Amino acid sequence: MHPESTVTAAQLETLKAYLNPFAMQVAPAITDAVPTPVATGSTATKAAPELNGLPFFPDYKSWRAISTTDRGDNHTMRVILGNDVAVRAITNKQIQPWPDGAAFAKVAWQAVPDWRGVLRPGKFVQVEFMVKGKTKYASTLGWGFGRWLGPELKPYGTNAHFASECVGCHTPVRDNDFVYTMPLPRTTQLEGQ
Ligand code: HEC
Repeated sequence: MHPESTVTAAQLETLKAYLNPFAMQVAPAITDAVPTPVATGSTATKAAPELNGLPFFPDYKSWRAISTTDRGDNHTMRVILGNDVAVRAITNKQIQPWPDGAAFAKVAWQAVPDWRGVLRPGKFVQVEFMVKGKTKYASTLGWGFGRWLGPELKPYGTNAHFASECVGCHTPVRDNDFVYTMPLPRTTQLEGQ
């Protein structure tokens, strides 16, 4: 129909991937035309405490992955990590309620399609924490909330009332001790080792 038009190498790859997506996943070809997004993390080594006093937990990157979610509407993908206390509570099935000291991190990246259309983590967006302290954080559902924005890890909010946003949105899951995430089930015995 359009004899004068040409198909670029990248367009051809897209077409091939569309027609045979699984083959492309087994042996992805490298192309310079559309670079694969690169996940970035926080470069800051320190971060100021949140405006409600919650400290930043620099070791969160070594916590264990508990679950993952993505949001199509705002194009982010997220990983939910748990500290040792949380992981032990999951193993011992003592998460109703979660024990004091249990902590979660929810890390978000922009979801960027690579040249095959596969969504990958791109720019680091933010990290959020919830730390259980039944008495210490009694005024905010028994959890200390905090959110640090961007690679510079800027504490979120203009004053300590920022936490009322977190409280408002986590209140509906009161029967779950205000936690949304259900640990991924361990389906095989091997996985549980
Ligand atoms: C618009 C509603 C909403 C608001 C506001 C909100 N959250 Fe959440 N939060 C969720 C949902 C839904 C999840 C489940 C995981 C997901 O969707 O990625 C979640 C999960 C989390 C988790 C992982 C543990 C869990 O409950 O699953 C942390 C940590 C967290 N939020 C921290 C915060 C902090 C800190 C704030 C306030 C600065 C906040 N959230 C505000 C809806 C909200």
